[in-house]
Amino acid sequence: MNIEEKRPLQVTDNSWWLAALDPDLRIFDIIMRTESGTTYNSYLIRGSKKTAIIDTVKEPFKDLFWKNLCSLVDPAEVDYVVVNHNESDHSGALPLILDKLPNAKLIVSAAGKGFLQNILNRKTDPILASDDMEIDLGGKTLKFAITPFLHWPDTMCTYVPEDKLLYSCDIFASHYCDERMFNDLTNDFARPFHYYFNIIMRPYKEYVLRALKKLDRFNIDIICPSHGPILREDAGSYMERYREWSQPDTKKKGKLMLVAYTTAYGNTANLAKAFGRGVQESGVRVAMMDVGNLSEMELSSVIDVAERADGIAIGTPTINGDAPEPIWKFLTSTATIKRKGKFGFTFGSYGWSGEGPVSISRHMKSLRMRVPHEPFRIKFRPTEEDFAQIKELGRNLAADL
Ligand code: FEO
Repeated sequence: MNIEEKRPLQVTDNSWWLAALDPDLRIFDIIMRTESGTTYNSYLIRGSKKTAIIDTVKEPFKDLFWKNLCSLVDPAEVDYVVVNHNESDHSGALPLILDKLPNAKLIVSAAGKGFLQNILNRKTDPILASDDMEIDLGGKTLKFAITPFLHWPDTMCTYVPEDKLLYSCDIFASHYCDERMFNDLTNDFARPFHYYFNIIMRPYKEYVLRALKKLDRFNIDIICPSHGPILREDAGSYMERYREWSQPDTKKKGKLMLVAYTTAYGNTANLAKAFGRGVQESGVRVAMMDVGNLSEMELSSVIDVAERADGIAIGTPTINGDAPEPIWKFLTSTATIKRKGKFGFTFGSYGWSGEGPVSISRHMKSLRMRVPHEPFRIKFRPTEEDFAQIKELGRNLAADL
């Protein structure tokens, strides 16, 4: 790993970006493409009386973080480490540096306390932040906004009114590495900003709207997120983009059932069509999707339809006791939308044992989808009676929506 030397950058009077750049990273958290690398943003705030660090960095960057910190302050003078979020890209260095910060108290949300304990593997007695708590650093004040599920239960933001500056953690972040670091100096990163929202925040849109409402009480000129550029030019426009992307779908006309299927010899496809006809007869719109060639499909459209759907029916054959890869790929591809609460149903034709629909039905339940009907499975070619049955199930599920 190439760890780029980078000196701290002053953000405002007595506040700095500490570290770190990771320009070579190409995959983040297993699922995200990071074509432009990323940054792990940690910050230092010095008041006249107290000093605070906001988040740390991923573990491999701890030495650079430490060097930069020591170039600005005696570690014994650090009074607080604010843990806006416990995920390892921001807390990885914490267990390794905490012993070297003898006077530092940790500040974390109530939901984050347990995570912190598990990360440090030691007993901790952190200060629990709340929406009405303030900490006076001397000429700089720390205020907090608890913003759960953006994107972990523990997430919170820290605000410094004297600087009109919000430390927003993963909210308003981008996986985009440009060593100039300030959005008025970097190249355009609109796409990585939107991609980050789509992958990380999209399942939690209602929490985004709640957080924006909560942040309305702050006067924000600068946003310092945990990844990517610092937003000091037109910070409000980034908040507005989040607001726009999180709006409920107003174009939606009535209920929608997505029927996603793959088929080896056409039998499961024929069941899918019969099921879809049953749904349609009950006045619910149907989107039919053969996901057998998912890798050649426009994934964002697939995800859009799945997000809009009130119910998802999956038709799958069985191969060696399981659903085949395209079905699982469809399910993992839609992991960036909220599936909890959607209706689910599975069906399929099989030859020997027919575990595919059972396995997917179980998976739907584990995603906390509502699965009111048992999987519908038939051997080889469906009969007229089978078609009539699955059509009836379509009507039933449409009524459930
Ligand atoms: Fe950037 Fe959720 O950590």
